[in-house]
Amino acid sequence: MSLFPLRLRGLKFVPNGRAVLDGVELALSGDGITIVLGPNGAGKSVLLRTLCGLLTPTGGQIDWGGGGFDGLQVGMVFQHPAMLRASLLENVSLGLRSRGVSRRARLAQGEAMLARIGLFERRHDNARRLSGGEQQRLALGRVWLTRPRLLLLDEPTASLDPSGVEAVERIVREIRTEGTKIVMTTHNLGQATRLADDIVFLAGGRVREHAPVRRFFTQPASAEAKQFIQGELPWHVAF
Ligand SMILES: Nc1ncnc2c1ncn2[C@@H]1O[C@H](COP(=O)(O)OP(=O)(O)OP(=O)(O)O)[C@@H](O)[C@H]1O
Ligand SMILES: [Mg+2]
Repeated sequence: MSLFPLRLRGLKFVPNGRAVLDGVELALSGDGITIVLGPNGAGKSVLLRTLCGLLTPTGGQIDWGGGGFDGLQVGMVFQHPAMLRASLLENVSLGLRSRGVSRRARLAQGEAMLARIGLFERRHDNARRLSGGEQQRLALGRVWLTRPRLLLLDEPTASLDPSGVEAVERIVREIRTEGTKIVMTTHNLGQATRLADDIVFLAGGRVREHAPVRRFFTQPASAEAKQFIQGELPWHVAF
C-alpha cells in the first residue's frame, strides 16, 4: 500500500486553546527531499510528530495515499536521538526486532549498516559514549535499516560541526537515492539549498509557501518568506 500522495487537509493542533497548527494544507509526493523551514515555534516539530502518529491532531485530516497510516513504513529521527545502553550493533539493528528478523540476520545487517555509516570499528562500544554527531549517524543507520517509505528528520544536524553535517547530509542523500521519501526540518539554509527538492515554509501554524527549492530562494512569493530568507523575520529578533 502506498502512503503517497500524502495530503494534509486543514490540519490543526490546538493545545490549551492556542493554535500551533492552524489549518495546514499540504500535498507531498512520494519522492525526493522536502525541507520544512520556518522560525522557532512555527510548528515544524509538531508537524513531524503529527505525521508519525506521536501527536494527535485537534482537527483536520491526514490522507495517506492508497492505504491508511502504516507505522512500519514511517521512520522518525529526533534532534537528540535516544540510545539504548548497549553496543552500537545492538542499537543499529534494534528496529529489525519488531519486524521478525532473526537475531543472526539482524546482526549481519547491522554490521553492514555500521560499515556504510563509518562506525563498523566501533560496533562493540557502548552507544551512549558516542559523540552527538556519531549518535546522529547511528540513529540514521538504525532507521535506514528498517527501509521506511517515509522518513521524518527533525533538525538532524542542529548541533554538529561541519564534518558531522557533511556526513549526515551524505547519508540522507543515500537514503533518498534508495527510494525513501524524506521530510526534514533545518535552520541551516545552506543545507536546505544543498538537499531539498522542495521547500515548505511554515509560519504562524500555516503553510505560507510550498515551492521547488530554487524558486523558493530566488523568487519567494510571500513577504514572510522573503524576510525569513534574509534573516529579518520579526520572530527572530524577539529577544
Ligand atoms: N505536545 C505539545 N503540547 C502543547 N504544546 C506544544 C506541544 N509540542 C509543542 N508545543 C508548542 O507548539 C509550538 C511549536 O513548537 P514546535 O516545536 O513545533 O516549533 P518548531 O517550529 O519546531 O520550532 P524550533 O525551530 O524552535 O524547533 C511551541 O510553542 C511549543 O511550545
Ligand atoms: Mg523544532
